[in-house]
Amino acid sequence: MQDRALNRALIALAAGVFVLLIGFGFWMYGQLGSGDVMSGAFQESEQTRVDIGGAFNLTDHTGRQVTEADFAGGYTLMYFGFTYCPDFCPAALQVVTAALDQLEEQDPEVAKAVTPIFVSVDPERDTVSAMADYVGHFHPRMVGLTGTPEQVAEAAKNYRIYYQKVESEAATYYLVDHSTYLYLIGPDSYYVTHFSHDATSEEVAERVKAVIGG
Ligand code: NI
Repeated sequence: MQDRALNRALIALAAGVFVLLIGFGFWMYGQLGSGDVMSGAFQESEQTRVDIGGAFNLTDHTGRQVTEADFAGGYTLMYFGFTYCPDFCPAALQVVTAALDQLEEQDPEVAKAVTPIFVSVDPERDTVSAMADYVGHFHPRMVGLTGTPEQVAEAAKNYRIYYQKVESEAATYYLVDHSTYLYLIGPDSYYVTHFSHDATSEEVAERVKAVIGG
């Protein structure tokens, strides 16, 4: 009985703290935002930065150390995966390549503003030279990024990418489960929009043009 009473008291306390936090959140929003919580929130939602993107510290396929700052000011089409991927990665990178080819024909200025980037989530096997070989199969401006396991983990965390090595009997042949979003990242290094794995190159080209050209 005593345990139950204690539990109830704790639940009540937790609920109280929760309500206070929500209240504080609205108050803070009022202080920071326009003051009009409802209309301000919705009017500004399109400009509000989505918290996907930002910092990374990786090595490109030529061996150069790069960060998000090296790509800031332009757009990137960014995809996370691994060079041994039998299906989603090559398909996605082909879509990116075809979308950029189409953009180059339709609107070279827009195409030039976009850098395609492939980020490895398998740094164990995706060495700099493996990345160089791999991105060579796709768009000529495609940048391959890899790094230490810690650097890759940090980038994946900031870009909200899930990945998980699938354990197998073979030591060197294994798969890596991973998110299959293709991101359009803006000049501030943050999320603009994303495409799911079944998007066509035409869809990607259209939306990139709408964002950059419009
Ligand atoms: Ni893949």
